[in-house]
Amino acid sequence: MSATVGPAALQLAAACQSSIERATMTGGCGRLRPVEATQLSGELTRVLVTKDQLAARIAELAAEIDRDYAGKELLLVGVLNGAVMVMADLSRALSIHCQMDWMAVSSYGSGSKSSGVVRILKDLSTDVTGMHVLLVEDIIDTGLTLSYLVTNLRYRRPASLKVLTVFRKPEAARNPVEIAYVGFDIPNEFVVGYGLDYDGLYRNLTSVGALSPSVYG
Ligand code: PRP
Repeated sequence: MSATVGPAALQLAAACQSSIERATMTGGCGRLRPVEATQLSGELTRVLVTKDQLAARIAELAAEIDRDYAGKELLLVGVLNGAVMVMADLSRALSIHCQMDWMAVSSYGSGSKSSGVVRILKDLSTDVTGMHVLLVEDIIDTGLTLSYLVTNLRYRRPASLKVLTVFRKPEAARNPVEIAYVGFDIPNEFVVGYGLDYDGLYRNLTSVGALSPSVYG
């Protein structure tokens, strides 16, 4: 026996279909299109790295990692929250197998600057002893968070420990921690997008731009 569909149900289905079509065409109420930095003309002063440039650079880094870790067991450790985007894209660009795990940390300090005193909010689920660990960050600014994390992870005796960051700011160069894979060196500006936030927002921009002082000032 099949269920009967009455006129009211058919009207409802037609209304749903046309609202899906409208949303698809306009990027309207359903918000089906990704947030493009160019749509935020008043909030960004400029776009630093486009979606295509990000994808191309991640593909290059993945190819390097494929070569460097061939025949090894790789564990990607993403630092929440900002590294979510690069973890998703990098892991899918790799040809080798990898495991993924996450840490969440909070930096004590005033304002948006790191203090170097870091509290672990979420630790790894994996015992990394004897594993090849690649720590994945969205950005290295002062480098203080990275110093803490690298010191902490070394205590756990991984077989190797390297660092990848999508963005590196100039101050990070003063930090003694070596960064094996760098996506882009960028100037000391307040950047958002591709995981980077201001006050919890802008992480879902597909490209990366400089935030206007009118937003954060
Ligand atoms: C960012 C970034 C690094 C840290 C770098 O995290 O993901 O972990 O800051 O700063 P530093 O080099 O000056 O120490 P944030 O604290 O903004 O948290 P989020 O990833 O959740 O945005």
